[in-house]
Amino acid sequence: MEVVITDHPEQVMADIITGAVRGGATTLGLATGSSPLPTYRELIRRHREEGLSFAGVDAVLLDEYVGLPPTHPESYARFIRDNFTDHIDIGEVYSPDGMAPDSRIAADAYDALIGEVGPVDVQILGIGSNGHIGFNEPSSSLTSRTRIKTLTEKTRRDNARFFDDDLDQVPFHVITQGLGTICDARHLALVATGEGKAAAIAATVEGPLSASCPASILQWHPRATIVVDEAAASKLRDADYYRYVYTNKPENQAGH
Ligand code: GLP
Repeated sequence: MEVVITDHPEQVMADIITGAVRGGATTLGLATGSSPLPTYRELIRRHREEGLSFAGVDAVLLDEYVGLPPTHPESYARFIRDNFTDHIDIGEVYSPDGMAPDSRIAADAYDALIGEVGPVDVQILGIGSNGHIGFNEPSSSLTSRTRIKTLTEKTRRDNARFFDDDLDQVPFHVITQGLGTICDARHLALVATGEGKAAAIAATVEGPLSASCPASILQWHPRATIVVDEAAASKLRDADYYRYVYTNKPENQAGH
């Protein structure tokens, strides 16, 4: 794992995506939530002002609420269009079908689709305050594939801010890429900012590899980058070591 502690997480994340796209990436994995928004804004700026093109690139989303149509303002399909993909020249953007009559069939179909359009070159990730990635809540199987999950009460409360602070509007169920599906990506790039993520980041980087903190699966992946601001890094025991490693990074280092 590479841990990057920076005042400008969005620049480091945008550099990772820019490097991948300019290097011939054909599939990006996109995340929703507020954490990647500054990264998306920076990539849109580079597209408009610096000629960064996503032509020939397709994208897959991590997850979707069950019961929200792709037109619903809080569906992730809509969120990613509004905040990112409608503003760049990317190709297809795929997401799980939250309206399918049978979510199990839709989940299997989405996993198979990722296998066809993938492997994902770079998967962008945020992290929930309980350590979830995608919507893989604590106790998720570390090798899970795309499937239906029930959200924890905490995640529903955390996400109520997107639903007029009305918990009753937050769906109970989601379709999410599994931890095994996510790990099929060649490079995982997780971004987290703010004090509220500090405990989850410490558990991810320095805790045991455990289903109790699903994001700890990044320890198992051959190429994972964790990009955090000072507040999100504040509970990392070995923060000085991560700074030292990043400062002295060899030019040609890829895996970590
Ligand atoms: C949701 C999403 C995750 C995201 C998390 C954190 O639960 N399914 O992909 O990482 O929220 O969101 P935020 O970045 O807004 O804190």
